This record gives sequence, structure tokens and C-alpha cells, in this order.
Amino acid sequence: MNEQAKQDRVRIFDTTLRDGEQAPGCSMTLREKLKVARALRDMRVDIIEAGFAAASPGDFESVREVANSIKGVTICSLARCHEGDIEKSARALEPAARKRIHVFVATSEIHRKFKLEMARDEIVRRAVEAVRLARQACDDVEFSPEDASRTEPEYLTEIVTAVVEAGATTVNIPDTVGYAMPEQFQALFEHLRDTVPGVENVVLSAHCHDDLGLSVANSLAAVVGGARQIECTVNGIGERAGNCSLEEVVMALKVRADYFGLDTGIETTGLYPASRLVSSVTGMHTPRNKAIVGQNAFAHEAGIHQHGMLKHAETYEIMRPESVGMHRSNLVLGKHSGRHAFRDRTRQLGFELSEDQLNRAFIEFKKLADRKKELFDADIEALIVHKDTAAMGPWRLRELRINTGGSTLAVAAVRLEHDSGEQRDEAAVGDGPIDATFKALERATEMSVELIHFDVRSVTTGEDAQGEATVTARWGDSSYRGRAVSTDIVEAGAKALLEVLNRALRAKARLDSGKAAKRGPRRRLGP
Ligand code: KIV
Ligand code: ZN
Repeated sequence: MNEQAKQDRVRIFDTTLRDGEQAPGCSMTLREKLKVARALRDMRVDIIEAGFAAASPGDFESVREVANSIKGVTICSLARCHEGDIEKSARALEPAARKRIHVFVATSEIHRKFKLEMARDEIVRRAVEAVRLARQACDDVEFSPEDASRTEPEYLTEIVTAVVEAGATTVNIPDTVGYAMPEQFQALFEHLRDTVPGVENVVLSAHCHDDLGLSVANSLAAVVGGARQIECTVNGIGERAGNCSLEEVVMALKVRADYFGLDTGIETTGLYPASRLVSSVTGMHTPRNKAIVGQNAFAHEAGIHQHGMLKHAETYEIMRPESVGMHRSNLVLGKHSGRHAFRDRTRQLGFELSEDQLNRAFIEFKKLADRKKELFDADIEALIVHKDTAAMGPWRLRELRINTGGSTLAVAAVRLEHDSGEQRDEAAVGDGPIDATFKALERATEMSVELIHFDVRSVTTGEDAQGEATVTARWGDSSYRGRAVSTDIVEAGAKALLEVLNRALRAKARLDSGKAAKRGPRRRLGP
């Protein structure tokens, strides 16, 4: 890429799998992370921050697996300015064709005094050593002075100058606590461009949090100030109020190319499918009025708007829903629709299914079409997204009967089938149908969990709409999430809890087999 093209392009650094996943309630399994990483690659983001390799063995494993299976995009791991963190990141990134190590240390006075208990020059030394070490493992090194927006500007110049000399190739300026105002943040970038020698040889980046609802505005202001990388997450998920939302910042740069004169290279038709995927795997639903990807983002209810739209769409629409991968035809298929129509629709919704996956999804689709008059896009998405996890055993729900008999007490009877073929029937009395069902399932699986969160929402509108249930529960030190959809919300809740129980049972089996392996073969007494 020539110098001009470099300056005309804003790199998109996605941190859904790191800063996003770090937020409470947003944790993802490895399979889910890989799915999200594939969607990000297909959308052509420039960098995927796959995790914080040193945070835990699970994080190490996910960075390594993303590095191993996702090609054609730079894979990044976060690291503190510690030798051990940097080594772990380098090891986890080994399989990546294109890799980046992202080192960070806090620089603001409040962090120096109360968190690090370190003096300014000590922090500079540590940052320089970390960047040098990371450069030995990797040509592409990013440095972040955490809480940069609350750091003294002249100190920021000092530390950024030092890390640029040490070999950092990208310098990221985080608004860690979402405190900055757009004009101030723009000025901070201009200040760095004016005061840091050699700054023209590195990419300046913005990383904004949304505590005051300004993360997108601040990221765009940073771009005006000279940033050429934006760090963001799908649906804006992240710590506290979240991070800058990828879809919003990308569409702002695209729709207002007349103002910014910059390109991102993102395939924007992937935005809506990626948003649906992330909300479905995390259980963090986007509000209906969320910009770009909310259900109402392109809905025109007011008569005067509809009138204008019918005459000329641009009267009330600054971008087409198709440009973000959202298709207008809301009423899609019914029980007479064939396999071809179903395949076309799944493709339009951004799913590439193998023949086998398509066949299985089509069978479920036909079953659903028998229960529901009209099938909407969201029904089909839910069906495909939830199919994968529902297929994982060992237990499957074969029958569920509820008797409420007009009182607050309810009786639930369940029949489960195990992978081994064993069948179990159990019943329980509870305070309402959900409570009774959950008790019966725990009895049948002989697994007990502590419920943290239970949520049901309607996938579409109408009396026969499917309910999507999300259950989060704790077993031991870990929490597990399950999701399921059904036109019957108690059944959706039962299937979601069963997914949690299955996950916990699989974890228990792994733990037991680990313990048995450590003990070694038992010595037999007698014959
Ligand atoms: O918000 C923040 O400061 C961060 C850094 C680690 C980049 O996430
Ligand atoms: Zn952050």
C-alpha cells in the first residue's frame, strides 16, 4: 500500500473477543469465539484481538486456536508489560500467519499512584523493555498507555516517544473510563502528532469506552485528529457501558465519506449477521432502536415518513438496510416453502451451511412451520444459531408435561434420553411451571446448578412468536450459559437449562477423568 493509500484508510481493530468478552455476561465458549472470529474475518476487519493469552489457560487456548484456524487477518493478543505475559502471547500466536502483540501499562496519575504505585520514569522503562521484548517475537507491536485520556499530555508525549523509538508500530490511545469529550480527544491526537518525533512512522489508534455515550463520537474525533486505527466491538459490547460499536463507527465513515474522505475496507453487508451472531452467543440483546443493527433501525411507522419513503427512499433513509446485510422482506417462508427457497434465505441472512447442516436445519424448519403460521428472518436465524448447541448431549429432552391446575403450584414431568440410549422419567412440584421443570431436570440428570439469570424474550411479534430463553447458572467455579427457542416458553426454558446441565456434566466428566489419570491404575487386592 502506498503512503497516500495508508493515510486514506482507517484500520478496524476488533476486540469483541477480548474487551467485549471480558464484560460480565459476555463470556463465550471456544466454539463460539471461533464462529465470531470467522464472521469478523469474512467482514474483512484488519485485526482480531483474540484474547489476553496470559489471563488463564482458557484464554491462552482460545488465542492459539483462533491463530491456528483464522487466516487472512492479523491475530492479536493483549499482554501486560511483563516478560511472562509477552512470552505467553508470543507462544499462543505462533500458528498465526499475521500476528500482533499488544502491550499496555497505565499512565494516568490516579493509576500510577493507587494501582501501580510506580513513578513516571519507572513506567516508561517498563514500557520500553516490554516493547523491545515483544519486537523480538513479532514485527507488529502495539502499545497502549491505559487511561491515556486522563494522563498529563506532556507525560504522554514522553512515553509515546520512548515506545516509538523502542519499535512500537501502532500506538493506541485509550479513553479507558469513557471520560473524554470529542474536541479534547481530537486535540490529544493533534498534540501527539505535533510533539512525538517519528510519529509519522506509526499508526495512531483510538480505543474508546462508552460511559458517557461518546465512544463512537470520540473515535471519529480521533480520526479527524489523525488516528488511522479504531478499536471497537460488535454491538459495542465491553466493560461497563461497553466499547465503541464497530457497526456504528464503520457506517459513519462510509455514509459520511464526503466528510471524512476515508475508507475502512469493511464488507458492510456482514454487519447485521455479525451483530445477530454476537447477540445470540452472548445473550446480550441489542435494543430495538440500536443504530444500524436494531430491529427498528430501518422501520418507518409514521405515516408522513412512509409517504416520503414510498416516493423516494432517501427522503428518510441515509443508508439502505441491504448495505448492512439486513433484508427488508420480513415475512419470508411458510410450510409450503421448499429447500431451495430455504437455502437462499439462509444465504441472504449470512449463513454458509454445509449440505448436512442445511438438511438438519431444513428438518427443524419444517417442524417449526407446522407450529407457526408465518416464519420471519429472526425465526430462521434463531433456528440455525441454536441448532448447534442443542445437538450437544449427553441428555436430550424427549417429552415435557406441565400441570398447573389453576393454583400457583405446578407439576412438571420430563422424559430425557441419554447418548447411551438410557431413558429417564422424573417429575417435580414447583412454584410455577419453570421452577417445577428446572427441578425435574436437575433430578433426572443428577446435576444441580445455582441459577444466576433466566430471561425469555420474543424472537418476533405475534401470538405464535417463538420465545428465546437464556439461562446462566453456576456449577463449581464456572458459570455456564444455555439458550433455546420454542413457540412454548416453558419448553424453551427447559431446553436452555438442559444445555447448561449438559455443559456442567461434560465439565464434571473432564474433571473426573483428569483426577483418575493422576491417581493412575488402581492396585487390585486379591484375585
Ligand atoms: O480500555 C483500555 O484501556 C483497554 C486497554 C487494555 C487497551 O482495554
Ligand atoms: Zn478497553
